[in-house]
Amino acid sequence: MAWYENFFDEWYLKYWVQWITAETTTEDADAIERFLELKPNSKVLDLCCGQGRHTLELGQRGYNVVGLDLSETLLAESRRLAQQQKLPVEFLLGDMRQIPFENEFDGIFNFYTAFGYFEKDQDNQAVLDAVGRALKPGGRFLLDYPCLEGRMAGWKTQRFIEFDDGTVLLHSLHHDIFNQTIKNEALYITKDNQRHHTGFTLRHYYGRELRQCFEKAGMNVIAVYGNKQGGQLSNKNDRMLVLGQKT
Ligand SMILES: C[S@@+](CC[C@H](N)C(=O)[O-])C[C@H]1O[C@@H](n2cnc3c(N)ncnc32)[C@H](O)[C@@H]1O
Repeated sequence: MAWYENFFDEWYLKYWVQWITAETTTEDADAIERFLELKPNSKVLDLCCGQGRHTLELGQRGYNVVGLDLSETLLAESRRLAQQQKLPVEFLLGDMRQIPFENEFDGIFNFYTAFGYFEKDQDNQAVLDAVGRALKPGGRFLLDYPCLEGRMAGWKTQRFIEFDDGTVLLHSLHHDIFNQTIKNEALYITKDNQRHHTGFTLRHYYGRELRQCFEKAGMNVIAVYGNKQGGQLSNKNDRMLVLGQKT
């Protein structure tokens, strides 16, 4: 099984998401609305929606939102929250390489590092190809992605985190510079000594490569930002927002 079929499980939902605050999600949604230029009733796809935080927030703001994800565990949580909040948003189980729509969306976004998951470049390209197909002509795609130059300065290769319930997470990463891959290993140890060994590997794309991949998929990169307020990208930013538009 590939790592991305396992990693986004109950452990991810219980622990990994604890670093995301409600304010971050609100700020993300503000940026998504602004950069995708959403209008009332715009149809939007949250590609790799996870536990649905952006789908739900944008649903509350009145947009017609669909969330797509491969994790049944995270989708079950998304659906539970949508029901609780009585929001008419739709969640679909599926692979980001095979988005089952054509010329459908005014905007698509992919947030919190959900790109570069596949070992083969052609599979990562297939994701952008699917985005290009699913957008209406002129539709926009916003990719929230790590900026490696900004991360390098304070990059720790090992970290140790203790959660409130006493569970400890040991996280180490290895950056294979030549192959542009970052391999992450994670070991959770609970208070009662249960162990869960997991991890993920990301293929890192630099900006120029992303531009080429977007273009192959029928999208132009129309802007790149260093933060959600629209600031210029620099080596002080640990993330970047890449905005594409279907030609
Ligand atoms: C880092 S999480 C980001 C979740 C969400 N976008 C957020 O901002 O919280 C990455 C998501 O990608 C999903 N995913 C992983 N592989 C996938 C695939 N092949 N197709 C669709 N979704 C996938 C995971 O299940 C997970 O929900």
